[in-house]
Amino acid sequence: MRIESLKWLVCPSPGCAGSLAPSPSFDPRYPNPAQQELTEAVLSCRTCGDEYPVLLGVAVLEVDLGAYLGAFWDEIESCAAELSGLHISREMRTYLGIASAFTGQPGPVTRSPDLQWTTSPYLQAHFDPGSLAGDLAPGWWKSAVDNHVAEKNEPYAWLLTAARERSGGPAGGLAIDVGTSVGRGAAELASLYDYSVGVDRSFRAILAARRHLLGEPCPLETYALETEKGRWEPRTLPQADHPASLDFVVASGAALPLRAGSTSCVAALNVLCAASDPLEMLADFCRVLTSGGTLLLSSPFWSDATPEGETPLAAGGPEYLRKALSPEFEIVAEQDQIPWLLRVAKRRWDVYLCHCLVATRH
Ligand SMILES: C[S@@+](CC[C@H](N)C(=O)[O-])C[C@H]1O[C@@H](n2cnc3c(N)ncnc32)[C@H](O)[C@@H]1O
Ligand SMILES: [Zn+2]
Repeated sequence: MRIESLKWLVCPSPGCAGSLAPSPSFDPRYPNPAQQELTEAVLSCRTCGDEYPVLLGVAVLEVDLGAYLGAFWDEIESCAAELSGLHISREMRTYLGIASAFTGQPGPVTRSPDLQWTTSPYLQAHFDPGSLAGDLAPGWWKSAVDNHVAEKNEPYAWLLTAARERSGGPAGGLAIDVGTSVGRGAAELASLYDYSVGVDRSFRAILAARRHLLGEPCPLETYALETEKGRWEPRTLPQADHPASLDFVVASGAALPLRAGSTSCVAALNVLCAASDPLEMLADFCRVLTSGGTLLLSSPFWSDATPEGETPLAAGGPEYLRKALSPEFEIVAEQDQIPWLLRVAKRRWDVYLCHCLVATRH
């Protein structure tokens, strides 16, 4: 976590929003003082005293930390196992009450290829789109993919162009990209706002975003594409710039670590459909946005993220979304059926036709 981010991010505990500072009772590690980067620390809320860990450079700003670590510890361990020379210290494990800190045994490392699924197609589509069609035989599908890449008519390009046109220059203030995954939305918003933070509940995705876009705690040079079922092939990731006004943290879109009215722009691309309670998330976007602030949304109105099936938003479509926004927002630009392609494996693609909108907060 960038120390600079502590100027913008606060305690996510409901109704608190106290400022956060590295706890003096836990010696923070600054392996890279030039970058002012916290690699392992405990952040303490100056108002309510709640504490949040920074693990492998990723701040975990989750309200129910115990529940989060219970659900994600295997993923965190498996991320740590992939980073050579970096680990989660025994001191931190003891602080978190992780059993392996007391037994001397390594933690339960699960190297599930499923985890690659969560980041690799996104790394390819967002940061290496030229490779999407490279190996396709000539034909209608290759032409379709080539046109899609060349036209840049996809949700990120459409929404960022709309935001840029509306501001007519640098917009200033803070931008948040909710459900940022590997971080493209936050990275693009960094060129328009003073500071940009991507948040996601996936530890692995936030670590990948930090590694690729900030080079911290160590650069990400490859991603893995599933070629045939269960077979993975490493691909080189093109290098990214490392803007100084960008960071990524683990947090929930329904309990953002931000003060009320503190944020100039909230983006959530292809996220609301995956939320079990999209209205709760929209209410938090509304809370943190300043009056006149910009909301950028893309919705495929499809989600297989919840075991219960479709969420109310996914089932309700654009009409449901317009109604949910109407009391607090004015919709200023809207376009439906903007294509979005993910190459899940060599022979499997996901194609979504997204509904995109720009709204301003009353
Ligand atoms: C379909 S992906 C979209 C990723 C990226 N915005 C894009 O368009 O490529 C949805 C992302 O939202 C994240 N997500 C789901 N529920 C969330 C929540 N409550 N808070 C924050 N992130 C969430 C998931 O971890 C996942 O990375
Ligand atoms: Zn607090």
